[in-house]
Amino acid sequence: MKKTDPIAVFDSGVGGISVLKELMALLPNENFLYYGDSINAPYGTKSAEEIKDLTKKNAEILLEKGAKAIVIACNTATSVAADSLRKLYPDIPIIGIEPAVKPAVLYKIHPTVIVMATPLTLSQDKFDELARRYDNEANIIALPCPGLVKLIERGVVEGPELDAHLKEIFAPFRYLKVDSVVLGCTHYPHIKDAVSKAFDHKAVIFDGGSGTARETKRRLESIDMLNDQTQKGELHIINTLGTKEIMDLTYFLLNR
Ligand code: DGL
Repeated sequence: MKKTDPIAVFDSGVGGISVLKELMALLPNENFLYYGDSINAPYGTKSAEEIKDLTKKNAEILLEKGAKAIVIACNTATSVAADSLRKLYPDIPIIGIEPAVKPAVLYKIHPTVIVMATPLTLSQDKFDELARRYDNEANIIALPCPGLVKLIERGVVEGPELDAHLKEIFAPFRYLKVDSVVLGCTHYPHIKDAVSKAFDHKAVIFDGGSGTARETKRRLESIDMLNDQTQKGELHIINTLGTKEIMDLTYFLLNR
């Protein structure tokens, strides 16, 4: 493994681009390899076993391509497969992402916090443990959002179709004073403005992307594997669907 080898970042599709942007901002001299598994999206409505298999396959491909670290830029894959992947590759830094419940809870005294995530993420013990830790401090509402990832993978990241979809999933909370919303799926930061608008811009929105980027830096620093080249790093993008539409969407989300 060399310091100049890429940091691999993967997700079920274009979601992880939201994490990649944080990584590239924090570590501009690193080389990155982004792997979007759009052909198998969405992950969040599949079984844990299927996601474990897909995650293992993704990691094999990325290590074959010379990754020096793997960032699982997917809350769903992190919840069900990060531990087994770390056991399989104990010498590779494997960094995951989890819903940013802590900062959302700490934002106010006794806030009402909505955690938006995939059904699979919210069904895991890992999420129960996370939510239980803050039970006394906040009213935490877990909100599974099946269907949302499919919309985003189709490029629907703003406009009336998205607004109508969000209105429907937030309808039960219409009369509740929501203090903060956690975007517990890496696809959702791409629709942050629409989510904020759905709460009349009165809720504060949190996501785990920047925390994951900082953790990646810490982990590489601790094993002296940060790239010390002075020029800007390179980015290579692979998408398993590989259509023009998905590549255009990937670059659109990356550059906006
Ligand atoms: N972006 C992923 C996550 O953070 C997966 C979404 C999906 O494919 O369902 O959970």
